[in-house]
Amino acid sequence: MKHFSLLMLFVALLLVSCSQSQKSMSEEDRFVEELLAKMTLAEKVGQLNQYTSRWEMTGPAPKGNAGAQDLLDQLKEGKVGSMLNVNGAEATRKAQQTVVENSRLGIPLIFGYDVIHGYKTMFPIPLGEAASWNPELARLSSEIAAKEAAISGINWTFAPMVDVGRDARWGRVMEGAGEDPYLGSAFAKARVHGFQGDDLSDEFSIAACAKHFAGYAFSESGRDYNSVEIGSETLHNIVLPPFKAAVEGDVATFMNGFNTINGEPVTASSYLQRDLLKGKWGFDGFVVSDWNSIGEIETHGASANLKESAERAIKGGSDMDMEARAYITHLEELVTEGKVDEALIDEGVRRVLRIKYRLGLFDDPYKYCNVENEKNMMYTDEHRAAARKVARESMVLLKNNKQLLPISEKVKSIAVIGPLANDKDSPLGNWRAKADSHSAVSLLEGVKAAVGQSVKVNYAEGCKLSIGPRNFTDRMIFNETDRSGFKAAISAARQSEVVLLALGEDCYQSGEGRSMSDITLKGLQQELFDEIYKVNKNIVVVLMTGRPVAIPEIAEKAGAILETWHAGTEGGHAMADVLFGKYNPSGKLPVTFPRNVGQCPIFYNYKNTGRPIGQTDAWVLYSCYNDTPNSPQFPFGYGLSYTQFEYSDITLDKNTITKVGELTVNVSVTNTGSVDGEEVVQLYIQDIAATYARPVKELKGFEKVMIKAGETKTLSFKLTETELGYYFPCGTYTVEAGQFNVFVGGNSVDVKQAQFSIE
Ligand code: BGC
Repeated sequence: MKHFSLLMLFVALLLVSCSQSQKSMSEEDRFVEELLAKMTLAEKVGQLNQYTSRWEMTGPAPKGNAGAQDLLDQLKEGKVGSMLNVNGAEATRKAQQTVVENSRLGIPLIFGYDVIHGYKTMFPIPLGEAASWNPELARLSSEIAAKEAAISGINWTFAPMVDVGRDARWGRVMEGAGEDPYLGSAFAKARVHGFQGDDLSDEFSIAACAKHFAGYAFSESGRDYNSVEIGSETLHNIVLPPFKAAVEGDVATFMNGFNTINGEPVTASSYLQRDLLKGKWGFDGFVVSDWNSIGEIETHGASANLKESAERAIKGGSDMDMEARAYITHLEELVTEGKVDEALIDEGVRRVLRIKYRLGLFDDPYKYCNVENEKNMMYTDEHRAAARKVARESMVLLKNNKQLLPISEKVKSIAVIGPLANDKDSPLGNWRAKADSHSAVSLLEGVKAAVGQSVKVNYAEGCKLSIGPRNFTDRMIFNETDRSGFKAAISAARQSEVVLLALGEDCYQSGEGRSMSDITLKGLQQELFDEIYKVNKNIVVVLMTGRPVAIPEIAEKAGAILETWHAGTEGGHAMADVLFGKYNPSGKLPVTFPRNVGQCPIFYNYKNTGRPIGQTDAWVLYSCYNDTPNSPQFPFGYGLSYTQFEYSDITLDKNTITKVGELTVNVSVTNTGSVDGEEVVQLYIQDIAATYARPVKELKGFEKVMIKAGETKTLSFKLTETELGYYFPCGTYTVEAGQFNVFVGGNSVDVKQAQFSIE
């Protein structure tokens, strides 16, 4: 009897707990679990398999690359969970229909694409956008890019790239938000929000993807795809924060990277993907591999064959295989042989189905393929106006001697010279998605539209930047010999009061696989500058680059320098807005500009070393180069305005706080010039004596404010444990007692300073 009632109690408890878990199970979970329960192992593996379309490839073709017929068959058999590089409402609808109407369970595909800085309407490259120090602009551009992509059937972008990039040689430095984890985190969140909106199921929002997890930007010598050797302290404090910020911003997916870290391929890293990302950070979306990065585990020398690579990747937490065919070929076999637990497959599939569910694909697999919208809502005036706004706020005024800029209304002749002066393609940037080639407004067009008939515009190309093929796949050959355009350029400069000299980089000089061992201006550009300088000293260099470049002579001699990056569809108009003073420049460098390539990697948040220079007059035996200063050409956070800002001393509301306390830092900024302007007020801290040496400065706050001419604005920044601690190499976040410096200023060098302590 006693046994019987115990049994009854047990059954009753079981029933209650079951019904409770049923209740607490969300609609989404229930849907996913029910679907998962219906799937065969082969169908599950199919969900983890991603193929590119055959008409647009963004990576090398893998071994055994299937033909179109094979692809079609696999789609029908439910062996494909996602496709990338399928574009357009028609094409995506067809591919979706093939799967939904033919495969047993009709699970819709998710379509991924690299929508990095625009889809059809191009915005400045992400590095440029970060120079605005205005995350709201990145949110806006991502929202527009998402809308244009969504109406073309794309429901997943492989962006934002949140890799902190310290090395100007690395080609993909253009694709991120620069060298700082704090600024990078703000932009990561903003971009995720822009792409995903407030509701992933909205027809105009798409899933974002934080990439490349992790450490990819630290490739040795700045050479793309190279190995990465970094310590855990750098990993936790510099590399990981923007990824964590993306998770906090509810990013739907992650992409891992091609690289190893200290010998371990990140695609197989269970520490990064399972312990940290899915464990500690609680990320519930899925991780896609990078293009064939599972296959490359073998090339790294970390597996004997594709089958072993598949095993390492799935165990490491890579949920979806992009183009390696490792999962589709080997996962079933690995499960049957007992080498891989089916539960790992289930977990990956659950994650993929969850994101498809959140996108609303099970309600309507075709909701993203809308031919009418695609016709009417693409590349609109509104989108272009936004591109112009974002572009002009991204530009950084690096030099302005004797107020050469803005160009005075009295000027009646302007020379527009240079290989990039009438380039309608380079401003579109490297990751140009579906932009029409040569569709950007060039500098020349922008200037002509701005000045009207009353000013004589003398255009000359001067020289070509490169010769031979120029596209995504070929290496560029720079023009070292053809000076035939110099004569006309010199003559144009002679006849003009001011010269706008457009120099820099072609859009295919930066980006994936576009690393450089030399970051000076290529070809004959320096020589062209020197020749023009002989006849006209009023040179405004309009720089267009995808990375920091080393321009020591130009920095010394040019009258003014405006860094415009690759500014997007409306680039030329935005440049003219700044050059003629319609917009007062407010951009600040998100990345340090070195004096020469030998300084790379150079960044503001370095550690002091045991032998910092400046302690005595002696140089030798201190940490320095013997042939160049330690300081950069232009520091992080730097950028001029057409007005001047004066900073008051900093005041603190207390001098001592506890480890969980809060400190308020106040500063007043006065616009002492004669025009209104926006200033990016930056706050840095230094933990003076810590268990692990901390950087000389770390950005911990910033605010962009409009200050009218003559006006003073007081700003307050709060410092709490979120800003004041750091990660120990083991990954534990700690606030330590001791003295701290706090700095506030308009860049990372010219700052006001105060001290406080934590007890
Ligand atoms: C890049 C990724 C990109 C993928 C798909 C890879 O080569 O590293 O960033 O998303 O290709 O195009």
